[in-house]
Amino acid sequence: MREYVETRVRAGVLEQGTVDVLCDSGVGARLKREGLQHQGIELRFDRSGHRIDFQELVGKSITVYAQQEVVKDLIAARLAYQAPIHFEAEAVRIENYESEPKIHYQRNGQSHVIACDFIAGCDGFHGICRSAVPPHKLQIHEKHYPFAWLGILAQTPPASQELIYTYHERGFALLSMRSPEISRLYLQCAPEEDIGRWSDERIWEELRTRMATQEGFVLKDGPILQKGITPMRGFVATPMQFGRLFLLGDAAHIVPPTGAKGLNLAVADVRVLTRGLVEFYKRGDREPLRQFSDRCLRRVWKCQRFSWWMTSMLHRFPDEDSFSHNIHHAELAYVASSRAASTTLAENYVGLPFDTPGLF
Ligand code: DHB
Repeated sequence: MREYVETRVRAGVLEQGTVDVLCDSGVGARLKREGLQHQGIELRFDRSGHRIDFQELVGKSITVYAQQEVVKDLIAARLAYQAPIHFEAEAVRIENYESEPKIHYQRNGQSHVIACDFIAGCDGFHGICRSAVPPHKLQIHEKHYPFAWLGILAQTPPASQELIYTYHERGFALLSMRSPEISRLYLQCAPEEDIGRWSDERIWEELRTRMATQEGFVLKDGPILQKGITPMRGFVATPMQFGRLFLLGDAAHIVPPTGAKGLNLAVADVRVLTRGLVEFYKRGDREPLRQFSDRCLRRVWKCQRFSWWMTSMLHRFPDEDSFSHNIHHAELAYVASSRAASTTLAENYVGLPFDTPGLF
């Protein structure tokens, strides 16, 4: 289990606010050393690129640092403090979350119980925390997108210093990276795509076709270290709080990956809960904890909106008629050419501010 969470390849873009939370919590040393600072991204369509300069437009940047590296740093810090952490432990049941919460878990064939004041349900979409809540108390808001991503990790230097988000008539393509030697690339594919039908040669060929430019963009291939399919959907369960049980990150919401908001949104939830817990234990003030769900959801819906917008703008929809296709194209051209529209993209991409009232 530890190995699984420390090696599973997931997204890799951190907002400045996420970096600040990690650094302020004392887990930012390696991130500061190894994270790649990016000042902008490229939008590519019609075989040409348009840079969105975050630094110039909103004075902020993003950091490319893999999610599983964040997980490694968090586990290492916990072990260094000799704080309890149980691996190979399967949480099986939540009890009495309204007043005296208990978590039942199994380890080495034995049953254990943790009695606690509060439960931070950070156990992902398939975890037990959300399912501990009776269905009639939850509202589910869901959106299915008619495509998925085929992602690869490849041993080849990134063909660009910055991320490239490409719209092509054959579908979306994204060039990202993990280090100066390792590229991460994605291709839009069908939701039920069989990865067995994608040989390494076919993947590189398709990436080259979609990312080609008039200037002769060169995408060098290299050994593919890992490949997989990422489904695309939007999901929000409301509220995010039930008595002394809080739902955070994927336990409460899923965003489609375009724009890389998933991890950042989870960290924003953690930040709200942490502040609430500090107020509760330092001053006995319950109000910030009571506001947890409302505060988190304001940001969740803004990120859901941004991820939906980026996804819609950059993917080819199966049923696009000529009218929709032209509108779609006009949107890309508008974002690339208007300072106001580029600023909208930049402001959301680098991460909306945390502390401005009403902007959560
Ligand atoms: C990556 C993933 C994303 O969803 C994205 O928008 C940008 C980068 C990544 O894995 O590097």
